[in-house]
Amino acid sequence: MNFDRERLLSAAQEYGTPLYVYDTEIMKSQYERMTNAFYSVKKLKLNYACKANTNLNILKYFKSLGSGLDTVSIQEAMIGIKAGFEPNEIIYTPNGVSFEEIEMAVKLGLKINIDNISVLEHFGHEYPDYPVCVRINPHIMAGGNAKISVGHIDSKFGISIHQMPLVKRMVENTNMKINGIHMHTGSDILDIDVFLQGAEILFEVAKDFNALEYLDFGSGFKVPYYPNGDETDIEYLGERLGERFNQFQKAYKKELTLMFEPGKYLVSQAGFFLASVNVIKQTTSTVFAGVDSGFNHLQRPMFYGAHHEIVNISNPSGRNRYYTVVGYICETDTFGNNRKINEIKENDVLCFMNAGAYCFSMASNYNSRFRPAEVLWIDNEMHLIRRRENIEDLLASTVEISF
Ligand SMILES: Cc1ncc(COP(=O)(O)O)c(C=O)c1O
Repeated sequence: MNFDRERLLSAAQEYGTPLYVYDTEIMKSQYERMTNAFYSVKKLKLNYACKANTNLNILKYFKSLGSGLDTVSIQEAMIGIKAGFEPNEIIYTPNGVSFEEIEMAVKLGLKINIDNISVLEHFGHEYPDYPVCVRINPHIMAGGNAKISVGHIDSKFGISIHQMPLVKRMVENTNMKINGIHMHTGSDILDIDVFLQGAEILFEVAKDFNALEYLDFGSGFKVPYYPNGDETDIEYLGERLGERFNQFQKAYKKELTLMFEPGKYLVSQAGFFLASVNVIKQTTSTVFAGVDSGFNHLQRPMFYGAHHEIVNISNPSGRNRYYTVVGYICETDTFGNNRKINEIKENDVLCFMNAGAYCFSMASNYNSRFRPAEVLWIDNEMHLIRRRENIEDLLASTVEISF
């Protein structure tokens, strides 16, 4: 992993803090690592799950690598089209949206994924000739925490594998075209057996649909959050799942595309969030380092209890001390509790690692703070890809009335 302290520091000086910096080299190496892992599969397609990071330029970068796009809202799909993706390179996997939104996806010509039996029936009556993919719920409990475990029996996602007889009857009755089977069981999954077990369930469902073009195994690959931390062994998964996929195609008697839709795996480690220390505050029990940011900009620690390594890039060889790093939001706003960090002084710049996925895309204007600027590192050059907001941006959609 590239961690260039000097360059990050110079980005903070040039663009100010708080600031997100993303490194395209890391995105590319993750993309290639994954495609290489599945070398045995003839037709492999990765679709970048852009909910992880929707900056238009990041979408354009993945397009340049040959990726497709995975979207969960019509707005993400519209950003994808603006980024240059053909509509049929965009998978649209909504959950709980209106039928009108699904009809917009039909008009745009997206690849549509349906995860609700009543919507499937409605779709079959209205658009019997528009091929769609069925998202199954495999009833597997997997994921780094409860909020990101989405393939279990109590989850709102997918159509239960036990409802496949009804799905098949509906398909026959409406003569609709099912071109794919999809599954996504959660995020942050380490255990390869979970992926393989899920794949067997998906194969079992897929064998009964005779016009498939692709199988989409979703995502959920774990990235390391600690130095030398655990991650999904993607090469081993590629060997095992690639082999099983090839066996399945042979039995199915048709060449299919194997799809994945990674978000975190492609961008998490490519992102660095930089914040400056406003205050050091010693209390009876703790030394707080308070930065010029908060959970409005990086929500994962407060929302999921997620761990982000915190490095003092202004003082890399300072002696180690323990700090609780907090934000400036007016409620508990802790980024890291009791962390060993090189000695911190006011105005030092702290770097939060793994800040490429679900960080800026979950940021808000809470406390009426501007959202940070974003910078992309391409071939040793920094490019500003989102300017810092200003007071006009904050008020842009407000409709003022007179009193
Ligand atoms: C349907 C779907 N696909 C892909 C992803 C991306 O998952 P990850 O970021 O773990 O790769 C998600 C994330 O929640 C998702 O809901």
